[in-house]
Amino acid sequence: MSESEPNPIAELTPRKARLEHKRLAAAVEAADIAYHQNDAPTMDDAAYDALRRRLVAIEEAFPELKTAGSVSGKVGARPAGKFAKIRHRVPMLSLDNAFSDEAVAEFVQRVHRFLGRRDEEPIAFTAEPKIDGLSLSLRYEKGALVHAATRGDGEEGEDVTINARTIAEIPQTLAGDDVPEIAEVRGEVYLGHADFAGINERQREKGLTEFANPRNAAAGSLRQLDATITASRPLRFFAYAWGELPEKPAATQFGVVEAFARWGFRTNPLMARCDTTEALLARYRLIESRRASLGYDIDGVVYKVDDLALQARLGFVSRAPRWAIAHKFPAELATTVLEAIEIQVGRTGALSPVARLKPVTVGGVVVTNATLHNEDYIRGFDSKGERIRSGEPPDIRVGDTVTVKRAGDVIPRVEAVDLAKRPADAAPYAFPTLCPACGSHATREMNPRSGKEDAVRRCTGGLICPAQAVERLKHFVSRDAMDIDGLGDKQIEFFHADPELPVKEPADIFTLAKRDQENFKKLKDKEGFGAQSVAKLFAAIEDRRTPPLNRFIFGLGIRHIGETTARLLARHYGSFEALRAAGLAAADPASPERQELDAIDGVGPTVVEALTEFFGEPHNQELLDRLLVQVTPQPLEAVASASPVAGKIVVFTGALERMTRDEAKAMAERLGAKVAGSVSSKTDLLVAGPGAGSKLKDAQKHGVEVIDEAGWFDLVGG
Ligand code: IVH
Repeated sequence: MSESEPNPIAELTPRKARLEHKRLAAAVEAADIAYHQNDAPTMDDAAYDALRRRLVAIEEAFPELKTAGSVSGKVGARPAGKFAKIRHRVPMLSLDNAFSDEAVAEFVQRVHRFLGRRDEEPIAFTAEPKIDGLSLSLRYEKGALVHAATRGDGEEGEDVTINARTIAEIPQTLAGDDVPEIAEVRGEVYLGHADFAGINERQREKGLTEFANPRNAAAGSLRQLDATITASRPLRFFAYAWGELPEKPAATQFGVVEAFARWGFRTNPLMARCDTTEALLARYRLIESRRASLGYDIDGVVYKVDDLALQARLGFVSRAPRWAIAHKFPAELATTVLEAIEIQVGRTGALSPVARLKPVTVGGVVVTNATLHNEDYIRGFDSKGERIRSGEPPDIRVGDTVTVKRAGDVIPRVEAVDLAKRPADAAPYAFPTLCPACGSHATREMNPRSGKEDAVRRCTGGLICPAQAVERLKHFVSRDAMDIDGLGDKQIEFFHADPELPVKEPADIFTLAKRDQENFKKLKDKEGFGAQSVAKLFAAIEDRRTPPLNRFIFGLGIRHIGETTARLLARHYGSFEALRAAGLAAADPASPERQELDAIDGVGPTVVEALTEFFGEPHNQELLDRLLVQVTPQPLEAVASASPVAGKIVVFTGALERMTRDEAKAMAERLGAKVAGSVSSKTDLLVAGPGAGSKLKDAQKHGVEVIDEAGWFDLVGG
């Protein structure tokens, strides 16, 4: 797609036609394999369709190129249809990870602290294997299976009901006398080792590419538009969680999973209830020791707070519950050769070194790239001359034989160098001091707080750097930000470079349709597009003109403003105009706006600085002016505004009895309130427990309403 306009077919010489035909046929075949066999598409439908169209057109003009096995004649073509989308009524969450015993102990402590329990007071947890498959949500109404949906982005998944019905371990109707009206049962679809080997054997016999691992094979088998293929693959299912389940069959995690077993699901026999960190770790070791003989892949152990009432109090942070964690098995290692070091320029200008590796299999996955972190990591020393990896070789050079480590879904990293194998001519790597994308100086800033040089070298080109601009646009449209369907990395790169319909900044996305119209609707004729995909793309863009405020803020890509902070700011300020005015005024450290910003719990000095810097930049102001002509961010969640404390500034002080301070804060924020650390004339409500001191006096001085903890629960409804 990044190539220039193809030559008209009539102008192709037979030689050129043969060369292009060969290239296209190979590309289509590779895309087919990636899509059908590996379940890892390498291009979108529009790009694929364009490739095939061109291939067929060439074969029509040059029939001698058409052979019996010609790719264009194969029916393996990508199916026209797609899975319908299903919106999850309860989002499908992910889990935070722990990689060490200490991290597990910290998790247990965090839970205690949040709930205000002393360490000695036991809290029961469950421990169970983390199955390495793909999660599936099954909806039963009056005991009958009505829907099956994949996780998707957690909010919306794919409707795979027909496929799920072919899986023997998924009951069509629930058994037992305590089956509720509505039950969404969730769990993992996976393949056993023996069945996986069998599937690959058949793939081999048919001359098809084999699956890399059981997980990919399971995903490829479930996500089949032809459900008879799913039916031919012995997929299995463990139930371990739920979505909508208004009438709980039990008050504990363990109890609900027991009910699942009564209703006809398979549940994992290694699941156990544990009262202490030691017991959790003992269960972890037991499960780890059984790992090789289980007959299916697991990649860790999941711990969950057993008591459902406590789970509800703990709630969520971003997309993961506070009440659960995945304790992952140690990473896997492999040795290979570092063939090159490339520098990628990120959206904030960070220059990231990436290792290009001789392909190597690490834990069933072929790895060709790995992170090298930063300049100091490659040199082996930090800017103060201290060893980064104690007792290890001083630096990493192209040509080195290196150890690559891959832990779960984390990007693989280069860990160690085998100095004995270092080629005699391997030279130390010279990290560029100019940005490879725009040629501007790339520098390492001094961190004023730590007094240390930043580990990251950054391009100083700012708005003139095309790499930064492209990365910022990619971030803006990405799934967790504006989430514009059909506008992925490749399309952004295309439009950014396209002379006819350039997209140089976010506002340009929203004028695309109009500009295309003025340009005689030529986009549909470009390679990689088509009338249908253009119409879909424009519809998806239209659909995002009123984004949720938190996604919009996150999408701006302001440094240090991640999803959680963006949500916090959206809640606190309610509208983009309010945030923008505050961000601008807060540049003055003595301003009330700065004080308000400083007082928001969860907003530290780094965020304050990033915000004031962003809004203080005239270019950003202009960019925002243009963007806000096109889009209107919507205040956060209607649920929040329906609560009696939505939009209110609340301060907690004194001793609380029914909840800890953390919990109180999380609850207030969930209800749309802003929690501040000190009382001012802007405060709406002070919740004061016994022993309240100066804040109570301040509240009286400013005439702020004061209630106690019981009053708080009355107000927010229990
Ligand atoms: S509980 C709210 N339990 O791991 C918590 N997840 O990394 C929901 N997974 O998306 C998940 N085995 O696909 C849970 N025993 C288990 C699991 C498990 C595998 C997967 C699941 C989830 C992912 C999160």
